[in-house]
Amino acid sequence: MAMKVLFVSSEVFPLIKTGGLADVSGSLPTALQQLGVDIRILMPGYPSVLQQLKNLQAITPIHHLPHIGHAELLIGNIENTDTQVYVIQAPQLYERDGGPYSDVRGDAWQDNPIRFGVLSKIAAILASPNSPVKNWQPHIVHCNDWQTGLAPAYMKLTEHSMAKSVISLHNMAFQGCYPPHWVTTLGLPSAGFSIEGFEYHGQLSFLKAGIFYADAISTVSPRYAKEIQTAAFGFGLEGILSKRGDEIKGILNGIEPEEWNPKNDIHLPANYHAGDMSGKALVKQSLQSQLGLTIDADAPLLGVVSRLTYQKGLDMLLPNLQKLLDLGCQFALLGGGEKDLEHAFADIAAKNPGKASVTIGYNEPLSHRIMAGCDMFIMPSRFEPCGLNQMYGLAYGTPPIVNATGGLADSVTDTNTAHLENKTANGFVMVEASADGLIACVLRALEIFRNQPTTWAQIVHNGMSQDLSWKHSAKEYLVMYQALVH
Ligand code: ADP
Ligand code: GLC
Repeated sequence: MAMKVLFVSSEVFPLIKTGGLADVSGSLPTALQQLGVDIRILMPGYPSVLQQLKNLQAITPIHHLPHIGHAELLIGNIENTDTQVYVIQAPQLYERDGGPYSDVRGDAWQDNPIRFGVLSKIAAILASPNSPVKNWQPHIVHCNDWQTGLAPAYMKLTEHSMAKSVISLHNMAFQGCYPPHWVTTLGLPSAGFSIEGFEYHGQLSFLKAGIFYADAISTVSPRYAKEIQTAAFGFGLEGILSKRGDEIKGILNGIEPEEWNPKNDIHLPANYHAGDMSGKALVKQSLQSQLGLTIDADAPLLGVVSRLTYQKGLDMLLPNLQKLLDLGCQFALLGGGEKDLEHAFADIAAKNPGKASVTIGYNEPLSHRIMAGCDMFIMPSRFEPCGLNQMYGLAYGTPPIVNATGGLADSVTDTNTAHLENKTANGFVMVEASADGLIACVLRALEIFRNQPTTWAQIVHNGMSQDLSWKHSAKEYLVMYQALVH
């Protein structure tokens, strides 16, 4: 009998996306299906999800939900796939303008505890002996990040589930901590509000609940699995994580070859592959034209696609960006987030017409064009659980320049003599996480780009020929599931 897995996530590409979690939730389930896993996704019924799912039909009402009483469970599939998605229809929670976590102004929804408490509760109900869905009972509930962190707690404490739970940690910086009155509102037993439970510094912590009650824990790169057990990266949860240290599996994310592949990327004006790179030059030219940059095949074009937050370390680029433009580089940024960073980058663009372009906002097609049209991709994150953009850079022949942390360290191999000889060099790794460390790294890359074209081509080729697919990592998830149910 096939293993049944309920994959619970607050964002799933292409239905809704704010970052890498959506990419993973859109692609890992497909990879697991290919290994014979009978997997279904569970997610909130945001408007874009209800609109995009195909063959959407009601299955059953779900009763006894905290605060809202009941919701409707629907099922549909993602277009052109047979990935089945359970959707929670609860208009009062999910059908509103704005993002999945915050309103149009960027302020977190006040009722997030109930919005994601209900998501977690329904996951636990579907895995309980009393589930209203009798013909599909999961062996594993696979949770992702704090939004689903209460599911393992509900499974153990209120639903008496027979299924096992896994929580994957995609980012320790977001924990979902709320005042203690939510414990009662969410129908959690007050006994769980303790150090040995979901209490964290006097608050209810969704993420701690997941870490404490899940049967298995994974994170999205081997390096991050170690890092989060230290004070510098654990965001206060390093103690509880190191208690389960040896159990925490670090499994590097893969990328979706249908979506992120320069050979068949529908967002590009020309396609290319390692055997014929001529299309990349065309994409660069078209990108320069689209962004109002001077059309110049030789100007090194540096790209950024990112949330503009402390995590991503792009403030380390600001002190030296003008210097790089003065050295003849061009710069293309797409992103949004902290206002002071948005303004600082926009200022540089305004002062450097034809040389720097800054697009504030979210734009999926442009993100693909920047990835393909640039010569280098800059990602100096202070911490990076996995990071998908550096992997997209590798796949698109746009060597990444990264800080040595998390999944960046696990996927990017620095260019030096030894790594050129053994053909593993695929990008550039900063020696220290600082503005000086970043500029030194970019200058090292520029020197090779400008003066050693054969070496550059080798670096590009090494990245493009790397296996970045889910093939290997999906198997590791399967092994983790099997260890839990046998
Ligand atoms: P994180 O999830 O921490 O933001 P990742 O590198 O794992 O970082 O994933 C980011 C994802 O979000 C990538 O698919 C990237 O292309 C996308 N992305 C980030 N910012 C934007 C943007 N402004 N427009 C379009 N896509 C974006
Ligand atoms: C988070 C992390 C990012 C990771 C993504 C998917 O958003 O910040 O590093 O790639 O989750 O796992």
